Amino acid sequence: MSPNSNVPDPSKPGALGVEILERIERFLQSSRASLAPVVQLKHPRQALDELKLGKFLDGNAHDSDAILSLIENYLGAATRVHDPRFMAHQVAVPHPISALGDLVHSVTNNGYGTYEMGPQAAAVELALVDWFLAKIGWSEGGGLLTHGGSLANLTALLGARAQAFPDAWQRGVPPEAVLLAPTVSHYSVERTAGIMGLGTDSVVAIPVDSLGKVIPEQLDSVLARMRKEHRPVLAVVANACATATGLYDPLAEIVEVCRRHQAWLHIDGCHGASALISDKYRHYLKGIEGADSVSWDAHKLLGTSALCAAVLFREEKSVYRSFHQEESYLSGNAAGEELPFLRSLECTKSGLGLRLFLVLASQGVGKIAQDLEYMFQSARQLHSMLEASDDYEVPFAPQTNIVLFRPPVADELIEEIRLDLIQGGGAYLSAANFAGKRWLRACIMNPATDALTLERLLADVIASASVCAKRRCC
Ligand SMILES: Cc1ncc(COP(=O)(O)O)c(C=O)c1O
Repeated sequence: MSPNSNVPDPSKPGALGVEILERIERFLQSSRASLAPVVQLKHPRQALDELKLGKFLDGNAHDSDAILSLIENYLGAATRVHDPRFMAHQVAVPHPISALGDLVHSVTNNGYGTYEMGPQAAAVELALVDWFLAKIGWSEGGGLLTHGGSLANLTALLGARAQAFPDAWQRGVPPEAVLLAPTVSHYSVERTAGIMGLGTDSVVAIPVDSLGKVIPEQLDSVLARMRKEHRPVLAVVANACATATGLYDPLAEIVEVCRRHQAWLHIDGCHGASALISDKYRHYLKGIEGADSVSWDAHKLLGTSALCAAVLFREEKSVYRSFHQEESYLSGNAAGEELPFLRSLECTKSGLGLRLFLVLASQGVGKIAQDLEYMFQSARQLHSMLEASDDYEVPFAPQTNIVLFRPPVADELIEEIRLDLIQGGGAYLSAANFAGKRWLRACIMNPATDALTLERLLADVIASASVCAKRRCC
């Protein structure tokens, strides 16, 4: 390696760190003030060329200036979730302290497949699991943190599989087994069926109403039919809330039905379980304590950087069933140590809990609840504006921070409008299918998204719709 005095000295990251923090601060300020596009549409190959990434992998050491310019360019190309016009996907605007937690983890680098590799990281996880369990109302449950809600859903449903088919770990799942879920469920549910060898054809759709919410009486009938047809039910999945619409299934009624049929109920609360921290919106989750397992993402509505999710079980013993036979768990325990990797798909695991723990510790849960309520309230405000205008179709009143709407145009134009908004330097929205149509989807993740931003959004959508319609016809 060439002796280069400007190469960052790994033992003294301070000076480079200060420079990087300055760039981050500028990035945050310009994002918050909407001084750059929220998102720049680029194929990753184009971004790779523009960032000149290839030259950094030429085998040479690159000096601090080069590294800094790389980071500046990286930030310059980033999607700006801190911009109030960011309303696209379910990604939190993280509190800076969450990122600092990440830094502390990265420096200590205590991946803890065993407790001795990171007793403090495991303790943070334990404290958070207790916190999540208490919010659900479970005094004797168990759980673990996972890198994301998809992994939480997989872990929960593997726990359900072990309960329904105790020898599934060794012998697999009976071919006639089924998983019951509404079709609006997050794709990770169907993917879990594929991964666990159940097969996606074994996912039976639970009938839903016109809003995509489970109809409890129909769930009852499906469960009765399954029994009659000798099709054992691995689990029932309910949404709290559904990804596309942000609407909650009627949990309390679903719990009753599942109890009657002795079926495992998994509640996918990746997006909406966070409403449990709000006095105002907790009622949407009434009955959640009757579930057998719950998944819950902190990186969606708890101001935490990705990834930080939890899978939670009503009974603590379930925690060890997802990945390991009873026998091996006991031998781990006999050694006087509970081994975290026995509960988790992951072996090395980051100290992901610090991302959330520091947010709760530094802000207090009241502030996080206030932010969540503000985002839910903004969604209601947007809905009222849409209802008051003749220019839009609106399919339902929001329950969370997600609003679907569309100008009266052909489905094909929805994506064009979305792209036109982005390219014109306006808001960044997502889109979703619902009730046989394509909709613009505003997911208000930023407590800084105010009424003025929403008014501009609606004016921009109408302007884009007109431009796109003209482009089509001429
Ligand atoms: C309801 C629901 N479940 C699961 C997931 C997957 O979570 P993650 O992106 O953390 O894997 C999502 C993500 O949007 C979701 O909305």
